[in-house]
Amino acid sequence: MKRRVFLTRRLHDFALKKLKKKYQIEIHSGKIPIPKSKLRIKIKEVDGLICFPYDKIDKELIDLAKNLKVISTYSVGFDHIDTDYAKKNKIFVGYTPEVLTNATADLAFSLIIDVLRRVSEGDRIIRAGKWTEIYGAYDYVGLDLQHKTLGILGLGRIGSTLAKRARAFDMKIVYHNRMPISKTKEKLLGVNYVSFDKLILQSDIISIHVPHTNETDQLFNKKVFKKMKKSAFLINTARGKIINEKDLVIALKKKMIAGAALDVFQIEPINKNHPLTRIQNVVLAPHIGSSTKETREKMAEITIKNLEHGIRGKRPIYSVGY
Ligand code: DGY
Repeated sequence: MKRRVFLTRRLHDFALKKLKKKYQIEIHSGKIPIPKSKLRIKIKEVDGLICFPYDKIDKELIDLAKNLKVISTYSVGFDHIDTDYAKKNKIFVGYTPEVLTNATADLAFSLIIDVLRRVSEGDRIIRAGKWTEIYGAYDYVGLDLQHKTLGILGLGRIGSTLAKRARAFDMKIVYHNRMPISKTKEKLLGVNYVSFDKLILQSDIISIHVPHTNETDQLFNKKVFKKMKKSAFLINTARGKIINEKDLVIALKKKMIAGAALDVFQIEPINKNHPLTRIQNVVLAPHIGSSTKETREKMAEITIKNLEHGIRGKRPIYSVGY
């Protein structure tokens, strides 16, 4: 009998074809994210689960998963999964790092350019038929990237790749990590370590590249916004919950900071009436950090490999906690 696998969303056709050869698969269609009531039923029946960042796999679901060998998430982030509890229950968790490093760093950098040069804002102006209103010498000016200080919070794979992009644009780069990287690597990347406080005080642009954990939950809140430069921009391609969104809206409205560009939100998807959609100096993207054709295909490959390993009782290629 074929082992059973459940997918909370569709993957690429090539990946589904491979999965079908080996397993009896079922794919959720309809409302996204999958309602928990449905996941409760499905997780009881299967040996493998393929999930996505919006699917919260908590203790309650893991307790129901009597046959489950592996949870394979189509993402580098795994804060939606109770990985400790999965491990306790001898369930592997696979994820997809590395392959999305360039795509996510590219998106972060494109958001920096966009919000400083007001590209999306200009697009909105044209679509609203208001181009003729912004032709004066002082109208609609953006800012140079050159010589601005970019503060990278989290100099891991994506943060380091962003640093390379920023260097090519002659930016000054400071970073904060739990531990500084080696002096040799700092030199190679052209970055300087600073404390978190210095990072928020000195940076013209702050880009977030840390995972969402208890430590980073709502790390960017009104206290931090008060300390940031009034001319500073905040970029987030990591996880929405690292920012207190209500405080951010106030900070933007009161001009405590100059702008923000966000690919991730506290609750996704946000709707068109979200307060952030009514603020001009904000660029909003629909969680597309890893969303290039090439990257998404590689992520699908790894997701199914992780699943195959886990179902065979082997550690996934990219495994959390083992
Ligand atoms: C991830 O993989 O965690 C990214 O946020 C894209 O979903």
